[in-house]
Amino acid sequence: RMRADGMSDVAITAFTHNYHQWESDRSGFIAEENVKPLKQLPSIAEVMTTISAEDAHEALAHTAFLKLNGGLGTSMGLSKAKSLLPVRLHKGRPMRFLDIILGQVVATRSAQGVDLPLVFMNSYRTSKDTLQVIRRNRHFKQTDIPVEILQHREPKILAETGEPVSWPENPDLEWCPPGHGDVYATLSDSGILDTLEKAGIRYLFISNSDNLGARPSSSVAGYFAQTGAPFMVEVARKTQADVKGGQFVFDKTTGTIRLREMSQVPKADLAKATDIKRHPFFNTNNIWVRIDALKAKLAEYNGILPLPVIRNTKTVDPTNPDSPQVVQLETAMGAAIGLFEGSVCLEVNRPRFLPVKTTNDLFIMRSDRFHLTDTFEMEDGNYDFPKIHLDPRYYKLIQDFDERFPYGVPSIAAANSVTIEGDWTFGASVKFFGDAHLADPQNDPDPVTRRDRAYVRDASHVGPRGI
Ligand code: UTP
Repeated sequence: RMRADGMSDVAITAFTHNYHQWESDRSGFIAEENVKPLKQLPSIAEVMTTISAEDAHEALAHTAFLKLNGGLGTSMGLSKAKSLLPVRLHKGRPMRFLDIILGQVVATRSAQGVDLPLVFMNSYRTSKDTLQVIRRNRHFKQTDIPVEILQHREPKILAETGEPVSWPENPDLEWCPPGHGDVYATLSDSGILDTLEKAGIRYLFISNSDNLGARPSSSVAGYFAQTGAPFMVEVARKTQADVKGGQFVFDKTTGTIRLREMSQVPKADLAKATDIKRHPFFNTNNIWVRIDALKAKLAEYNGILPLPVIRNTKTVDPTNPDSPQVVQLETAMGAAIGLFEGSVCLEVNRPRFLPVKTTNDLFIMRSDRFHLTDTFEMEDGNYDFPKIHLDPRYYKLIQDFDERFPYGVPSIAAANSVTIEGDWTFGASVKFFGDAHLADPQNDPDPVTRRDRAYVRDASHVGPRGI
């Protein structure tokens, strides 16, 4: 049945590997006593001073830019690529993530005189829309290198039985993209590594299409080339808000750096693993790989790198919480670090990590905290953003969010934090100041309290839904 549905041999082998790992429930714990935390890492600010402009340029001239764009943004209620969402106005026109990525590449090509091929990894659900945006962009041209590689899809598994789920009312929903760890099998299957090598490309920079901070950088390319390492991950310093995320650790048993997700931490080690003094960095998913090293690794493993499987439990129809529970078996791109001896990590600063995972993040991106420059850089004064908490009942899904900000998101330039509880729809020219808090009008007869009025200016435009 799977073959009939067009799964390639590589896709079937990759899925079989994931399924067996899930079935045998190999948890792959990485205990604290077996690791050395990564505490001291070279930082981009330091290394920039050690690389000459010529070397940096030379490295970028041999780099290709690969954007992961196969995810469906289901946590924001999307069934399309998140990168199709408009983020900002530029010269009066709405710019989606994709427009900004294309703009960043075009600007770098012309400013630095480099080819910088751009390739998207799409999934069956994101390909058509993405190609259309690329075709319609008048400034972006690429003829010798394909602009897309198409990732595999795999069946969603019924949590209860382990069988592939059947969902006749929308059979498309029986399938899912297998996580961004699938990038290696997709690269291998597509044959694009050879095409890139023939075009003189030695390095691949891979990053999420929902991270607008992951821009082409000659300094980082130069550093990567200088290290001679096969694989490099950009990491950023954790803040209190990042305690829950995973980390890279040096595994004393394998002698390599490994990605340790929180699900791989034994219970007894949780306190240590979440101590941000002990493990100060998180994975930005900005990854550099030498093409020759990747080809050798793929050959060693017959095209499929053995990455730990992450079980993602969702409902078969992500927009319908009552539909059956399914397990999606995914792998993470960064986990490949453990397979490459001599991999390194580089500390980067927050401008290289501007992800949009939730509508809270989108709220900041669309706000007046940012300015989109002529070279398509998302610029902010200090990249130290206010904490945003939007009531998930009314703002978590993108449709709900957009409906409640018909004039765009309010100003947060002077806000320290914004908490919105309950169902509010916002008019034009609303500004938040300090620690702004709107209480739920259903529980509170005067939700804009006297204290809040000081923070929410122009309250005449703000009102509970329908007012
Ligand atoms: P995430 O897993 O963080 O988010 O992907 P997502 O898949 O977009 O959203 P949810 O989890 O459904 O809400 C990080 C990056 O990896 C890409 C995404 O497009 C995003 O740029 N990705 C993810 C893929 O390319 N393929 C996948 O199978 C999964």
